[in-house]
Formats: sequence, structure tokens, C-alpha cells
Amino acid sequence: MKLAIIGATGGIGRQLLEQSVDAGHDATAVVRDPSRLSRPVSSVAVDLVHPDWNALEAAVGGRDAVLSGLGPRSNSDVGVASAGTAAMVKAMQATGTRRLVLVSAAPIGTVPSPSHPHPPRHDPGDGFFMRHFFSPLTKLALRNQYGDLAAMEEIVRDSQLDWTIVRPPRLTDKPPTGRYRTAYGHNLRRGFLISRADVADLMLRLIGDPTSIGQVVGIAN
Ligand SMILES: NC(=O)c1ccc[n+]([C@@H]2O[C@H](COP(=O)([O-])OP(=O)(O)OC[C@H]3O[C@@H](n4cnc5c(N)ncnc54)[C@H](OP(=O)(O)O)[C@@H]3O)[C@@H](O)[C@H]2O)c1
Repeated sequence: MKLAIIGATGGIGRQLLEQSVDAGHDATAVVRDPSRLSRPVSSVAVDLVHPDWNALEAAVGGRDAVLSGLGPRSNSDVGVASAGTAAMVKAMQATGTRRLVLVSAAPIGTVPSPSHPHPPRHDPGDGFFMRHFFSPLTKLALRNQYGDLAAMEEIVRDSQLDWTIVRPPRLTDKPPTGRYRTAYGHNLRRGFLISRADVADLMLRLIGDPTSIGQVVGIAN
């Protein structure tokens, strides 16, 4: 398949790039600095917050799917997920590329966004510890990042594209296992960790799974 990989020099993005090349896909990397790519693939240099529209449209146009591991590198980068995803979505709409699989985060189903100011208090998949201790603490500590991801999800849901949002819990750099739990529409009970490599594995699998279109997918060990 012809894929565009956004953020291919990041943690999940690098896994997406390497696994897609190993699987024989034709991958184009959309990155800020192509010299940092871990594989010699075709690439387009784009800062998604200040995009060169011609370059971005050339990168996503004619692709079977766009996979995104975009996210803020630091606290001062907050806003990049929603602004960058808005640019990505606009370029996909302009070029007719429809399939989008991207990364959000496990708590986002309970985070308010402009169109959903009153989300459910708890994710149906979360157990007692997650509901009453871990989730409230992380939502307080990471409220700006999570607000950005909630806004990003809203842009994607409103996009009319064939989207799938993957919501992982805390990420690790362990090697891929291909063995993990998934659920449509909610998080996984006692699902505290998942490797970036396994998130990438799932994202690549979801591209060809029409049942995942328009779905939020939870993943965890
Ligand atoms: N950390 C966790 O435990 C956790 C848990 C759940 C969900 N998440 C979410 O998962 C996302 C991906 O995680 P990760 O570890 O793979 O993130 P990461 O290593 O920080 O990668 C983020 C990617 O986004 C790119 N990027 C940032 N700003 C950009 C811009 N203006 N234009 C173009 N590209 C830009 C970065 O490019 P450069 O390589 O050029 O910097 C990098 O490739 C996180 O951002 C977060 O939203 C994280």
C-alpha cells in the first residue's frame, strides 16, 4: 500500500515507518527533518503548524492511507496535535485521500472539548484504580496536552474522512510483541502500558480493517 507517515522521526512514527517498510509498503515520511529518518524512504519536509500546503498535499495525495504519530515534543509545543492534525485533514480533504489512522491517548474519552463540554465522567473500560486515582491525577497534570488531544479528536470526527483513533495508555519502548488487547469504544481494564512498537503494529493492521472506520480503539498489554 502507498502510505504517508506523519511524525516518522518520533517514537510511534519511527515504528510505523520501519514496520511498514519491512512489510513491503511504499511509505512516504512527512517530517520536519528528513535527515533524522531511520530508513531511506521518500520524504517531505513539513512543519505541520506552519505548513507548506503544496508540499503537504503532495505528501498525502494519491496515498491509500495516512498514519500519524504526531504529538508535542515538550510542554511548550502543546497545540501541535490539534493544529497539525487540522492541517493534515485539510490536505487530505483537498487531495481526496480518505483513510486516516492516528494516535490519541487513553483518558481522552473523559476530557471536555469545545463541542463536547460534558463528556462521561469515566471511561467504561477503566477499573476502580484508574477511575478514582490514576486518571484524575494524570488529567490534572497533563490537562493542556489532553485538551489539545480532545480538540484533535473533534477535528477528526468532524472531518468526514475514514478515520480511526487509537487511544493508548502509557507508552514504553519495548520491542513489538503483536500480543495485546484491543477494544472498540473504550479502554482496557487494568491496561496501564503498551509499547510504541505494538501501537504501530495495531495502526498498520487497522488500515485494512473497514470495521474500524469511525471508531475509537483502546489498546493495552
Ligand atoms: N508518552 C506517553 O506515555 C503517551 C501515552 C498516550 C498517548 N500519547 C500520545 O502519543 C503521541 C505519540 O507519542 P510518541 O512517544 O511517539 O511521541 P514523540 O516521540 O514525541 O513524537 C511526536 C512526533 O510529532 C512530530 N511533531 C511535533 N511537532 C511537529 C510539527 N510542528 N510538525 C511536524 N511534526 C511534528 C515530532 O517531530 P520531530 O521528530 O521533528 O520532533 C515527532 O515525530 C504523543 O504525542 C501523545 O500525544 C503519549
